[in-house]
Amino acid sequence: MIPLKENEIQLMRSAGRLAAHILSEVGKMVEPGVSTNKLDQAVHELTVSLGAISAPLGYKGFPKSVCTSVNHCICHGVPGSYILQIGDIINIDVTCIKDGFHGDTSRTFYVGEVSERAKLITECAYKAMLKGIEQVKAGNTTGDIGFAINKYVTRKGLYPVLEIGGHGIGKNFHEDPFVPSHGKKSKGELLQAGCCITVEPMINETSAPIKEFDIPDSEIKYYETSDRTFSAQFEHTVLIQEGGCEILTLPETPFEVGY
Ligand code: MF3
Ligand code: CO
Ligand code: CO
Repeated sequence: MIPLKENEIQLMRSAGRLAAHILSEVGKMVEPGVSTNKLDQAVHELTVSLGAISAPLGYKGFPKSVCTSVNHCICHGVPGSYILQIGDIINIDVTCIKDGFHGDTSRTFYVGEVSERAKLITECAYKAMLKGIEQVKAGNTTGDIGFAINKYVTRKGLYPVLEIGGHGIGKNFHEDPFVPSHGKKSKGELLQAGCCITVEPMINETSAPIKEFDIPDSEIKYYETSDRTFSAQFEHTVLIQEGGCEILTLPETPFEVGY
């Protein structure tokens, strides 16, 4: 982890703001009858029109400009011909590159009216992310973040995904450290002021094992719950500071969870 210079921090702020804007815009398109390909196309066009690059496109062979993970898909869902249906939940994960720096953010959206089960898991994922972000300050550790997430989620009777998590971010999409959704206080990597990480817990309804799937011609895998129960996720990119952090991917207008 190498702290960024002040001008690089400004570029991370711009990239983060842009990713948040793109996510908000594509989120407005979520409704029954829309295909995930349509969302991908919109992300791609908006990103290019804003003078940025979609980071997923071609990243380790990933074929699309955004990840769309529906219902039991945990993450890295590949947009395709699937048509959103009433009752679905969909995580849209936007990462853009602006002036060489990455902004990475995701939200889970409701498709029309959804079940109480869907709302429970989605709200839990959002609050778990906030609990993790509360721990982000210089001198704390990745274990502190994971501990806080795990504690919140398990008290709700739900399950954080242990194998996948957040990451350092900057000039590269994925950098050290790994940011887990479980852990021990004071363990793991020390958080340093001036570095950026993502906090992006994935939360499952059950403890069923997760299943890994290949994406053709890509090193990236996508993941599903093996019992096909719901999984939800939210993600922010944050700048570590002394005594706290700055969320770089806040949207211009605050959102209600799921919308
Ligand atoms: N945006 C995802 C993350 O939060 C990574 C997607 S990698 C891709 O880390 F290749 F699938 F796009
Ligand atoms: Co990320
Ligand atoms: Co992401």
